[in-house]
Amino acid sequence: MSQARLKIEVARAALEYVKPDMVLGVGTGSTVNAFIDELAESGIRVKGVVSSSEATSARLREIGVEIMDLNHTGDLELYIDGADEVDEHKRMIKGAGGALTREKIIAAASRRFVCIVDETKCVKVLGEYPMPVEVLPMARAFVARKLVGLGGRPELRQGYTTDNGNLILDVRKLDIMEPVKLESEINQIPGVVTCGLFARRPADVVLVATESGIRRRS
Ligand code: 5RP
Repeated sequence: MSQARLKIEVARAALEYVKPDMVLGVGTGSTVNAFIDELAESGIRVKGVVSSSEATSARLREIGVEIMDLNHTGDLELYIDGADEVDEHKRMIKGAGGALTREKIIAAASRRFVCIVDETKCVKVLGEYPMPVEVLPMARAFVARKLVGLGGRPELRQGYTTDNGNLILDVRKLDIMEPVKLESEINQIPGVVTCGLFARRPADVVLVATESGIRRRS
């Protein structure tokens, strides 16, 4: 089965968590795009969505879903999003799509985080994939030096500005044996908005699309 097909399968499986009239959070990326298509197809009418990016908001508006402001919704029952890597403890690296900060806020404000991935995203130890860090523009070089001090190889994502007007450093070679500690350490560097390690608030459920069907970790 192609990776695109696996994404569609897992997106469809996530519909089980979506109830009519609910307000949910929706992330960013190609798996989430498949979820939005499946949501449209399902005919489930949600009350609204708190979206993690302008790209997701545009797609949701196209299918007639109202975009809501987290400042007005209060905490959310459900958050659906993909990931770049996920380990056995449901900790993740996220942010290839550059939406990591809003994703982390929505994840923190949600009672249940359902992560949807295909099996290529499952790893024993996080860190094969470069970890994105969103930084304020004036702190780019300073933060990069600090990340080198932590053993990383940061690279500026060229020609890219986040929806929040900031930059992304993609960091390779980090030793992520203690993800909770490293997440806090990186987030403490002045100028860092947030890093793409999702360990302090892991997913609650991970749905994994495999050749032999959907596997669920909860
Ligand atoms: C965006 C993300 C995405 O969830 C992650 O990059 C996975 O994307 P895709 O579903 O396209 O593989 O964190 O910021």
